[in-house]
Amino acid sequence: MGLRYFFISGTSRGLGRAMADVLLAQADVRVWGFSRGAGPSHPNYTHHTIDLSDSTAVNQLIFPDLTDASQLVLINNAGAISPVARAGLQDAAAIEKLIFLNLTAPLILTNAFFKKYEKQNTSKLIVHISSGAGRRGIDAWNVYCATKAGLDNHARAVTEELLATQKNDTHIFSIAPGIVDTAMQTEIRTVADDEFSLAEQFKNYHETNQLLSPDLVAKQFLTIFNHPEKTPGPVFSINDIPSS
Ligand SMILES: NC(=O)c1ccc[n+]([C@@H]2O[C@H](COP(=O)([O-])OP(=O)(O)OC[C@H]3O[C@@H](n4cnc5c(N)ncnc54)[C@H](OP(=O)(O)O)[C@@H]3O)[C@@H](O)[C@H]2O)c1
Repeated sequence: MGLRYFFISGTSRGLGRAMADVLLAQADVRVWGFSRGAGPSHPNYTHHTIDLSDSTAVNQLIFPDLTDASQLVLINNAGAISPVARAGLQDAAAIEKLIFLNLTAPLILTNAFFKKYEKQNTSKLIVHISSGAGRRGIDAWNVYCATKAGLDNHARAVTEELLATQKNDTHIFSIAPGIVDTAMQTEIRTVADDEFSLAEQFKNYHETNQLLSPDLVAKQFLTIFNHPEKTPGPVFSINDIPSS
């Protein structure tokens, strides 16, 4: 059996860091992480310092030769939520930057991943970390909602391409992780009530301990990574998958 290689964006904190930590506990896994801040310190972890909202940097990324791989996984996890602001009150440059980070970069990385590995006779998986916000409208989150809906429909379209080209060894999923206790949720709780009608609701999730621990959510993802062929995709919530 060869090694399982995971490329994860956003490994400096939050869900991406928890996924890296959970995966690195397995001896046959190697993780490559991408973020501006540092990732975990582990002999089987390689960090790439990058701003994923910088188009030049993202276009220059190249995936390594990994001929000993038994599985190759790309997890598009890095993301942000700001600008939390209603249409008409947003800065155009901030809109552009958020769309690049949350949607354009994952699509460019997915394309580069396919180019590099599609002819390799190995199990391959692409996971977009989406959100329930991509499946309904949320006040003051219009850019974030649009990017996550974009990831969902990208996964649907690529799934059609995989079917059309009979690439049975490759899967792509767009997965909503639930409400996770990370810096993103802390940021959401700082938005004023008059700028975001759900501000109280999100503070209440925190006060009533309804936020999921990143470690617990990362462990739920393991079932999908271990058995992509048994996972009904392409668009779903992590809670739809029974843990093994
Ligand atoms: N938390 C939730 O409740 C929740 C719910 C639904 C979906 N999600 C999704 O889950 C994913 C992870 O979010 P999280 O909650 O773990 O947030 P987080 O704690 O804020 O972590 C975000 C990660 O993305 C990276 N990142 C942000 N901007 C970046 C940039 N310009 N370049 C490179 N990396 C960047 C950060 O690294 P650096 O800052 O070091 O670069 C960090 O590692 C996101 O896609 C988010 O939309 C979260």
